[in-house]
Amino acid sequence: MLSKMLLLTAAAAALAVPAHNAAQARDTAISPSGKATVHPEQWPEVAFPKVLTEEGEAHVQALLAQMTLRQKVGQIIQADIASVTPEEVREYRLGSILNGGNSGPWGDDLAPAAKWLELADAFYDASMDVPPGEPAIPVVWGTDAVHGHSNIVGATIFPHNVGLGAARDPELIERIGQVTAVEIRVTGQEWTFAPTVAVPQDYRWGRAYEGYSSDPALVAAYVGSMIRGLQGPPSVAPILAGPHVAASTKHYLADGATTDGKDQGDAAISELELRLVHGAPYIPAIENGVATIMTSFSSWNGVKLSAHRGLVSDVLKGRMNFGGLVVTDWNAHGQVAGCTNASCPKAIDAGIDMLMAPDSWRDLYDYTLSQVRDGTIPMERLDDAVARVLRVKQRLGLFEMGKPSQRALSGRYELLGAADHRAVAREAVRKSLVLLKNTGVLPLRPDARILVAGDAADDIARQSGGWTLSWQGTGLDNSLFPGATSLWDGIEQAVTSAGGSAELSVGGEYAARPDAAIVVFGETPYAEFQGDIASLQLRPELRRPIATMRRLKEEGIPVVAVMITGRPLYVNEALNVADAFVTAWLPGSEGGGVADVMFAGTDGEPVHDFQGLLPAAWPASARHDGETLFPFGYGLRYADGPGAWTPLPEDSGVSDDGSDGGVFFERGLPASSWSLTVSRSDGGESLRVTTVPAEAVQGRVRITASDYGVQEGARSFTIDPHPDGAAIELGTFDPIDLSRQTNGDMLLLATVRLDARLSQAPRVAVRCEGADCKGEVPIAEFGTLPVGEWRTLGVPLKCFQTAGAEMGAISAPFRLTTSGPARFSLARVALGSLSDVDVLAGCPTD
Ligand code: BGC
Ligand code: BGC
Repeated sequence: MLSKMLLLTAAAAALAVPAHNAAQARDTAISPSGKATVHPEQWPEVAFPKVLTEEGEAHVQALLAQMTLRQKVGQIIQADIASVTPEEVREYRLGSILNGGNSGPWGDDLAPAAKWLELADAFYDASMDVPPGEPAIPVVWGTDAVHGHSNIVGATIFPHNVGLGAARDPELIERIGQVTAVEIRVTGQEWTFAPTVAVPQDYRWGRAYEGYSSDPALVAAYVGSMIRGLQGPPSVAPILAGPHVAASTKHYLADGATTDGKDQGDAAISELELRLVHGAPYIPAIENGVATIMTSFSSWNGVKLSAHRGLVSDVLKGRMNFGGLVVTDWNAHGQVAGCTNASCPKAIDAGIDMLMAPDSWRDLYDYTLSQVRDGTIPMERLDDAVARVLRVKQRLGLFEMGKPSQRALSGRYELLGAADHRAVAREAVRKSLVLLKNTGVLPLRPDARILVAGDAADDIARQSGGWTLSWQGTGLDNSLFPGATSLWDGIEQAVTSAGGSAELSVGGEYAARPDAAIVVFGETPYAEFQGDIASLQLRPELRRPIATMRRLKEEGIPVVAVMITGRPLYVNEALNVADAFVTAWLPGSEGGGVADVMFAGTDGEPVHDFQGLLPAAWPASARHDGETLFPFGYGLRYADGPGAWTPLPEDSGVSDDGSDGGVFFERGLPASSWSLTVSRSDGGESLRVTTVPAEAVQGRVRITASDYGVQEGARSFTIDPHPDGAAIELGTFDPIDLSRQTNGDMLLLATVRLDARLSQAPRVAVRCEGADCKGEVPIAEFGTLPVGEWRTLGVPLKCFQTAGAEMGAISAPFRLTTSGPARFSLARVALGSLSDVDVLAGCPTD
């Protein structure tokens, strides 16, 4: 199948990518040069299709000739709807808006569909309201519809790309693109930041699930299909005239190649590997006329892609003839050497056409304007960038389509999650399942008594992963997925309709002895860097259902393990204990597709065979560079019959236990490599607390154990008032870099309980390296917490940055100081997002 697809892909053929194996490409690669120089002549020449008529291009040129400088600068800036109003779009003539993962109409990320359309109209109207003499240029709205129109309650949620990679079905991918485009059109947006065409080479990367496969040929074989599905086939007809939207391939280039799978990191690879492995998907993207390309946060050999002239101007636009617009990622320009979020002439000069400046757009606008005026940014470059933005708008048909609500499909809310859309998603779920083990328990008889266990069995958010309704996909319950089915729902329906019975019990207890048990376990949702892991294994608390499997087996009950996961992970224990093992990836809203394949028909024969094949190798240990257990392309079929199983060694091969790096203090104890110290406010008389009870600072601070969740799951502090004050700190020797987390709007969480009313609110600070490093924030909310009750208090990391902290080198993410009397308990200190918080602290400087 794959080799057939290879033949169909002109792109892959032109590149001569060695048959489905990135590692092979690496073997032939020259050794990393450590330099970021490119040789454009070595890159393939690609033909960008004709997408504008002569009149269309003439219109673009006419607009350009009439536009004021302010208008031009506005066109190349994209602001986030959480930080810009329609009125500001009018005033600044901004060319584009987006909704980031946590942004929704009028501050409501979960706003009903009609609100999105209403807001689209408001922004459109504002963009068309121009003073006499200036041409009106409609704003374009970009959204992360990355697995269906995934920000919208009620939309069809498709499996994430890793699951689609397992399906090996380019034709299905095109239909998914079509459905996604239709659902986007219902709420009035015109542009999706998809597909992600990353070719992940290290599955510790938190975004690995956004890529179809580790194999460049497989990714390349999908790209054209997805772009045609979203945009329609390349032609001079306006995109919006059909049921379509503009697409974006991202993140250019080599987002999936960063060292140690670190999100936004550096890809230290040769130009040959860059071109053959990570460049491969961009050829079909350009051939199919992708309207936009988003640059990566990451670097290639130390140079950020957001301002990489060689790769953006010389290779992409020059050699590969990309005729659309290049947009940067979320404040990514601020990470370019010499730039800030507010100023980055270097990026524009390097060939960027639009800057994604979610909350920084205003200052960026002012600086960019003055940089064009003083010649720092050449006028021809600005004109070229503006022309590219206008061409995309012209090609969309924005100038003639009227306001969003007047366009075809707009407001047809019944299309969100429509039955035929869900049917495509369910088909995708069926085709993406990969069977790794079956000693004969599958297919299950639908008239049997089935126990369904595991913490992921009845949780639609969990099975949908990140980029679902919210950025991280966390903090959501099943009620936010009207019309969707959890895995449990699908199983229950299959069984009860065939005369069997099903019982749901997360912990695996049962009322009546079942004929078989299905245990659903795996990863919890994450997005971007929050999903980076140190080793290829589940966190300890996510492995608990494996103990349930073991217990059920000991009771003589056959067990089917179903794993929800964004990536292949070391799970030998579960593979050994279960009688059958199905990898379901992140299936999305149509959990019923899992039951479709696991249950036989009433005749006892399978209704659908398994068809998924691994989109990336499955590891034999938790080591990224360790042995492979199941190779790329592995996957069993019913047709093969049941197989014998040789027990696998249960040795992860790594020293860490998979615990999360974003937790500093839990169950009353510092995480490994962290320590809890108590000192005077100025740091003197410091005591590292290793046992309790303890006394510090001449007895003025007493530390004892108290309970939270588990016995002694917290530490209680009694502090006597003193002018020298007291400080409680969680610190480490090796400072950590929290800049990505700060840019991503993450919060510092502290789970605390006041044990007595406070007369004076303590100050919370981070400690960072460097002489000028400050970062102390008075937290008034601390003092207002109810006495005797646990609360999770959240402080935006940005508050510390605003207060002067160097977020790139934090040696203590939590430091509490007070000179007043205080009695409180602390159970947990960690990083998290808004949905984890009970009480949100505001930055005092806001
Ligand atoms: C992500 C992109 C996304 C953008 C807008 C960024 O942080 O890297 O993939 O399109 O945000 O939400
Ligand atoms: C993401 C956005 C998201 C934001 C959270 C960014 O890094 O890309 O889509 O909304 O962080 O505030």
